[in-house]
This record gives sequence, structure tokens and C-alpha cells, in this order.
Amino acid sequence: MSSENNPSSSSASRSSKRPFDLLGRSLHDLRISVTDRCNFRCTYCMPKSVFGAGHRFMPRKELLTFEEIRRLVSIFVSHGVRKIRLTGGEPLLRQNLDALVRMLGEIDGVDDLTLTTNASLLSAQRAEELHAAGLRRLTVSLDALDDGIFSSMNDMGVSVRPVLEAIDHAERAGFASIKINMVVQRKVNDSDILPMARRFKGTPHIVRFIEYMDVGSTNGWRLDDVVPAEEIIRIIDREHPLEPLEPNYAGEVARRWRYVDGDGEIGVITSVTRPFCGACSRARLSAEGRLYTCLFATRGFDLRSLLRGGIDDEALANAIASRWRQRDDRYSELRSEMTLSEGATTEERPRIEMSYIGG
Ligand code: GTP
Ligand code: 5AD
Ligand code: SF4
Ligand code: SF4
Repeated sequence: MSSENNPSSSSASRSSKRPFDLLGRSLHDLRISVTDRCNFRCTYCMPKSVFGAGHRFMPRKELLTFEEIRRLVSIFVSHGVRKIRLTGGEPLLRQNLDALVRMLGEIDGVDDLTLTTNASLLSAQRAEELHAAGLRRLTVSLDALDDGIFSSMNDMGVSVRPVLEAIDHAERAGFASIKINMVVQRKVNDSDILPMARRFKGTPHIVRFIEYMDVGSTNGWRLDDVVPAEEIIRIIDREHPLEPLEPNYAGEVARRWRYVDGDGEIGVITSVTRPFCGACSRARLSAEGRLYTCLFATRGFDLRSLLRGGIDDEALANAIASRWRQRDDRYSELRSEMTLSEGATTEERPRIEMSYIGG
């Protein structure tokens, strides 16, 4: 039984001081970006026009150290966090990532430790190291199976093959069910929805089709570019009938569907057409230690200066709880109310980039 369901577990007893935000939401997930760098330049995330040779990434000394991350995670766990996701940029660009995985896995109360990666750097050895360090779940971003589409989307000429090979490496290393994230953009990669579903049908892996979102301010998002999840489901269901599944847990991001013939599961992430802010229990930590309470936040709360200024654990815990208690974010719901008028673009205000906060 997971500690989440077991009232006598140490995790549950710690949850008595869980902070709630202004909309009554507790803190359950922490998504940690370990670097703002990436070896891809996905056109919807890090367009070369913005993230080109002149772009200044964070100097190494500005990144949180593994020890600083561990300290913060322990405090977040005392506030109710049970799930940790490591992201980037591309997290495999951070050296010795397996050491961080091991450190976080040892924290009592971390029930789910996972990683989102483009997998292009996931060699057989790296997959084994991460698995041996205690990583049990993996999400691989893969936007197309067609080489032409994929390489023009990542804009670095990377072909699909190394990513599929990495998925094989991960399987061999012991990752049983891998999630594959495909961000769907109309007229860019929507022709690959069916091939992607076919490719992973009959495997234990779960493809999640993600509605393209207006994150950051560099991707020139338009509502017309979004393929609604309902349409994605219709496209797949015509060839391979689907039926909905209950969520694994309240507040799960993806809506689950299974093939009627029993040949596996897919998911859709409906951040645009059916926002899920109501149950959002996610906090995000940037690589330089800023706490964001929404993917679309404009400002982060600087935890690194507190850490490096010598704050004690209790004061740090109080600062984090107090920030969470002030939270009223529900950006996707507000955007949905604003943009459901025809052909709308997105609200014009600065937002953090996905590559900075890791999705
Ligand atoms: P599991 O733990 O495997 O269920 O994964 P997850 O649901 O946490 O999904 P993942 O981290 O793979 O996120 C998938 C995608 O969903 C992200 O890349 C984002 O595009 C989107 N997403 C995740 N969390 C949020 C969120 O809080 N708000 C919005 N708007 N989108 C989100
Ligand atoms: N809309 C939806 N998903 C996005 N991601 C990056 N940018 C966007 C966007 N604009 C996804 C990536 C990856 C995860 C980290 O975030 O594809 O799966
Ligand atoms: Fe692409 Fe992910 Fe890198 Fe962004 S962080 S450029 S989505 S691989
Ligand atoms: Fe949570 Fe913000 Fe995403 Fe809504 S838009 S689900 S509040 S991160």
C-alpha cells in the first residue's frame, strides 16, 4: 500500500501541517528543473531566434547544488509533497544526475520520483545508472515518428532513431512502462497522431498527446494551432476503438483512455480545452532556485538567497508554506475564459519559458 493511502504511515503523520492555498489546494507535486539548457531547439519551446548563440544561460554557480535541492525537497515533503519530477531544459545535460536521483530517493516521503527527458542523450549506460540510483519512472518527449517532421521540430537535425533506441535502453534497464509525450501542433505534426498511436499500441508504454499551450512568450501561440484532445481521440478511435478510464488519482494531469481490444493505454492532456487548475497541486522549482506556483507564473520566489543566506529549516519551511498559502493561480482556466473567442492569440504579459521551468 502506498503511504498516501495508509493513515498510519510516517508520510501521513507528517501531513498534519500541510498548507492549503487560497483555492483550497494542497501541495503534492514538485517539479524541479535542474538546468535551463537543452540540446534541442524545439520551435515551440526554444526557438533559435531567441535561444541562439547570443542567449545567456545560467552560469553553473547560479544553479542549485544537489545538496541545496535535497534540503528543499525534505522541506517540501514535510508540507505534503510526495511526487518529484526532474526536468530541464534537458535534465540529462546535468552531470551526475544519478547522484541527485539517489539523494532524493533516500528521502522518506518521496513516493514517486520521475524524470522528463528528450532522451537523445540516454545511452544504455545512463539508463542503467539512473535505474540503479532508484529512478523507476521515465517520460520521454517525442513529437513525431517521421524524421523530417521530428528534425524540423527539434531544429537540431536530430532524427527519431536515437530516441527510439533510448526507449529500448530504458526498457532493458528495467523501466517497465515509459510515458511518451507528444505535443501536437496543427499542420506541424498532427499527421503523426495515428502513427504514434500505432507504434506504441500493444506495448506497456503510454503515449500522451498534449494540447499545444501558450507557455512563455516566444512561441507565437495561436488557438488555431491547437488540436483539441477530443479531435485527437476521434482520430485514433476511428481506427482503434477507445474507452475512457478512471484517473489513477484525483488531479491527474492526463485523461486516460484504453484500447477496447485491451492492447494498451493512451492519455490526452487538455490544458487548453479542459483546464485542470481546480485540482492543481504542483509547485515548480527553477534551476536557480526560484519557486513558481504556476506554469504560467510571471514571478518566482527566490529560495536560493534564503538558502545561501543561512536560513534555518524552520524559517525556510515557514517561508515556503506562506508562499503556498498566498497562491491563487489558475491561469489555464482564465485563459480558457478569455480565448474561447475565435482565433484569439494569447494574453500579452511576460511569462516564464517552458525550458526554464520544465513543463
Ligand atoms: P505522470 O506523473 O506520469 O502522470 O505525469 P504528469 O501528469 O505529471 O505529466 P508530465 O509531467 O509528463 O506532464 C505532461 C505535460 O502536461 C507537461 O509537459 C505540460 O505540457 C502539461 N502539464 C503538466 N503539468 C501541468 C500544469 O500544472 N499545468 C498545465 N497547464 N500543464 C501541465
Ligand atoms: N505546450 C505543451 N507542452 C509543451 N512542452 C514544452 N512546451 C510546450 C507547449 N508549448 C512539453 C514538452 C515536454 C514537456 C517538458 O513539456 O514536449 O514533453
Ligand atoms: Fe524541446 Fe524539451 Fe528542449 Fe524544450 S526543453 S527545447 S521541449 S526538448
Ligand atoms: Fe496549475 Fe497553473 Fe497549470 Fe492551472 S495553469 S493547472 S494553476 S500550473
